[in-house]
Amino acid sequence: MKCACVNLPFLVVSANTYFFMVQAQGIMLRDNVRTIGQMIRLYTNKNSTLNGTDYPDGTNSSEYLVQPTTYLPENFSYAQNLPCPERLPSMKGLMEVNMTEIPMEEIELKFSKIFDIEFGGHWKPKDCRPRWKVAILIPFRNRHEHLPILFQHLIPMLQRQRLQFAFYVIEQSGSQPFNRAMLFNVGFLEAMKDLDWDCLIFHDVDHIPENDRNYYGCGQMPRHFAAKLDKYMYILPYSEFFGGVSGLTVDQFRKINGFPNAFWGWGGEDDDLWNRVHYAGLNVTRPEGEIGKYKSIPHHHRGEVQFLGRYKLLRYSKERQHLDGLNNLHYSPLVSLSSLYKNITVDLHPELAPIADY
Ligand SMILES: *[C@@H]1O[C@H](CO)[C@@H](O)[C@H](O)[C@H]1NC(C)=O
Ligand SMILES: *[C@@H]1O[C@H](CO)[C@@H](O)[C@H](O)[C@H]1NC(C)=O
Ligand SMILES: *[C@@H]1O[C@H](CO)[C@@H](O)[C@H](O)[C@H]1NC(C)=O
Ligand SMILES: *[C@@H]1O[C@H](CO)[C@@H](O)[C@H](O)[C@H]1NC(C)=O
Ligand SMILES: *[C@@H]1O[C@H](CO)[C@@H](O)[C@H](O)[C@H]1NC(C)=O
Ligand SMILES: *[C@@H]1O[C@H](CO)[C@@H](O)[C@H](O)[C@H]1NC(C)=O
Ligand SMILES: *[C@@H]1O[C@H](CO)[C@@H](O)[C@H](O)[C@H]1NC(C)=O
Repeated sequence: MKCACVNLPFLVVSANTYFFMVQAQGIMLRDNVRTIGQMIRLYTNKNSTLNGTDYPDGTNSSEYLVQPTTYLPENFSYAQNLPCPERLPSMKGLMEVNMTEIPMEEIELKFSKIFDIEFGGHWKPKDCRPRWKVAILIPFRNRHEHLPILFQHLIPMLQRQRLQFAFYVIEQSGSQPFNRAMLFNVGFLEAMKDLDWDCLIFHDVDHIPENDRNYYGCGQMPRHFAAKLDKYMYILPYSEFFGGVSGLTVDQFRKINGFPNAFWGWGGEDDDLWNRVHYAGLNVTRPEGEIGKYKSIPHHHRGEVQFLGRYKLLRYSKERQHLDGLNNLHYSPLVSLSSLYKNITVDLHPELAPIADY
């Protein structure tokens, strides 16, 4: 290879930087990219004109098609006007998980002072352009001791992944059975009032990721992040399992009409989401190997009831998809800001999401 420099109208960079950046995105490179020039255009989202002098001259670009498992080296240099890569040197793999309960005040202090989290739980990287703007939605009731444990693990991980993010805790008040799915719908609609998020993470409060290479960005397909749970001996319980932590782009989520609102009590709503995703012609991807490991904070269902009607509803997933979801939901939230999250409290009732009985 001769010169390792590319002179573009808008920036001068070492081509090596791009090789690494694109290595960090193996899939895109393998699928679409023939030349470095094309790679740079893709990478910078700009239509640069290299005057046909595609890079590198004469050699076969396939030598740069590196395994997508490669992570960038420590000396990788960021550029403020370029998207942050997905496979960063800061992502080391397995993380220590510490389930010790810790006061929220301590966590709030730590993250606002040292970790630079803005009031309300917002953060974005400064040394590159965040690839995804991620709203983390956490349905909540009666688990106050879990929140700080989750934040303690999630915030450093998301910062190492250089994602823009904010947390939304959607708390169900009132005495109806817990409706995880409807809380997600409410959280989505409220979060979109803040910012044009492009990626949504649906996150149980008691699921702690064990590997910081579990990248919380979105993709072409909906993603199931929590593939291996310690409580299931790190085995996927069944191939359609979509619970714990999952992620969809805003477009994908709108396309499937969000979650169903009709699942009162725990169980089934994640299976229904799986069905919706597939009826919309989408598939679900999962992280490979150790990357999808999670520990669950031990607890009991604390009086939360199982939803026994779920099997009946699941038989009609397809028919209900367009009747029940984002499009039939009404609610009146109580919204307040905390240091690390937006608190969206709602009292939910079946009448808020009217649907003919299936
Ligand atoms: C990109 O460049 C090609 C030719 O080089 C041109 O046909 C096309 O319209 C350009 N696209 C944009 C978005 O500028
Ligand atoms: C690109 O091509 C145009 C027209 O063909 C020419 O005027 C220009 O000098 C070329 N630029 C470079 C950097 O070669
Ligand atoms: C260049 O790559 C193509 C496939 O992308 C391959 O068919 C061809 O044989 C390669 N040429 C050389 C010289 O390696
Ligand atoms: C960065 O580190 C890699 C090895 O990890 C080395 O091959 C490369 O030369 C280094 N680049 C610079 C600019 O120091
Ligand atoms: C776990 O966290 C607690 C509370 O922050 C701390 O006191 C303890 O030292 C930590 N344990 C380990 C093994 O890091
Ligand atoms: C989804 O997966 C099925 C089975 O693997 C495959 O046939 C189908 O083409 C995939 N759909 C998309 C949109 O990738
Ligand atoms: C959210 O706000 C409500 C009151 O509006 C409060 O009762 C509840 O404790 C708050 N929840 C969290 C997790 O901060």
